[in-house]
Amino acid sequence: MDIQDLTLDRDGLIAALECNEPAFNEALCKKAYETKVAHIGTDVYLRGLIEISNICAKNCLYCGIRHDNTACTRYELSDEEVLAAATKAARMRYGSVVIQGGERTDAAFVRKITRLLKAIKALPTASEGGIPLGVTLSLGEQPREVYEEWFAAGAHRYLLRIETTNPDLYYKIHPHDALHSHERRMEALQDLKAIGYQAGTGAMIALPWQTAADMADDLLFYKAFDAPMVGMGPYDPNDETPLTQSGAPLLPDEQRFALGLKMIALLRLLMPDINIASATALEVLNPRGRELGILSGANVFMPNITPEEQMVKYNLYDRKTLLRDCPHSGEPRKEENHICKNCVFPFCSLGENLQNGKVTIGWGRWGDSLHFQRNKSIHNE
Ligand code: 5AD
Ligand code: SF4
Repeated sequence: MDIQDLTLDRDGLIAALECNEPAFNEALCKKAYETKVAHIGTDVYLRGLIEISNICAKNCLYCGIRHDNTACTRYELSDEEVLAAATKAARMRYGSVVIQGGERTDAAFVRKITRLLKAIKALPTASEGGIPLGVTLSLGEQPREVYEEWFAAGAHRYLLRIETTNPDLYYKIHPHDALHSHERRMEALQDLKAIGYQAGTGAMIALPWQTAADMADDLLFYKAFDAPMVGMGPYDPNDETPLTQSGAPLLPDEQRFALGLKMIALLRLLMPDINIASATALEVLNPRGRELGILSGANVFMPNITPEEQMVKYNLYDRKTLLRDCPHSGEPRKEENHICKNCVFPFCSLGENLQNGKVTIGWGRWGDSLHFQRNKSIHNE
């Protein structure tokens, strides 16, 4: 397939996703990078990722921190640990943090998040004008009142992935009970948007049984939902999960990785001014995975600032590979934010491209998507 022949309708997206020619894939990623630079520039926004707890009430069949996995050692960060991580993000001029965790709706947890939001908003920052940190939450489905309480306490972005837009596939990878409802997930996303959050969504890529048509539909869903931000990444198996243990079909690593980049690139062509995250799941498959995500059209990077002792327990997928050497210097990398000699910045896989100007950093900025800012000004007029 020739890149000139690419169309962004459903058939065109399917053809692009099915094409396995390296020359096409490369041309697509290059075109997406150029589209990004033309519309929103080279800036990458940073969000310090705080994985607050791996305790989860749910049992998604693909996820290593699912409730019934007894092989998972559970933790919950204390208020002090969360605030220490947020203080580090503020000091390092990340501009924003993401608080992510397993799904819990108990009152003590809801109150804790509200308390932490208020405290984070009050932290002194090194950002220009001392603006408070931006906060994105990623804490699953919650009753509308809880979303409202957290919005009032200072969260302004919420990431709730749809996992897949195909309900049949959804029920193949989730238990069949009231807690795991595709319909409820859609409603929660609508609640977030109606409350005024920048409601981000996303799906997993290259899931067992997922077709190119399913993935094309995911892309068209982001467009129809008018998502200001999207976080999506390849499915990576975890050995302790029912999905892996049942022998569900799995594409080889290279194909899942190529599809991960291709989905980012196609989404950038479809929605040139939104925020697209370069998912950690990419880095499990390739040591420079997130950097290649940025060069394929993504513009958000989430350095993990969870204390290391707990970070290794947040095993959605098998993450041992994350703790490997710097791809530039070969220097041992003990933690994700290790600063190696070659790379001036605290996340070494972006080093080279930072130095040659293909990537710049939006230090200390919230980095709301241009798409959201434009829509806001339309509604305010
Ligand atoms: N592979 C890739 N992504 C996963 N997630 C959960 N388990 C896996 C896995 N095995 C993703 C889901 C969820 C997000 C927090 O992590 O998409 O929404
Ligand atoms: Fe819980 Fe999210 Fe994992 Fe599902 S994917 S088990 S909701 S942490």
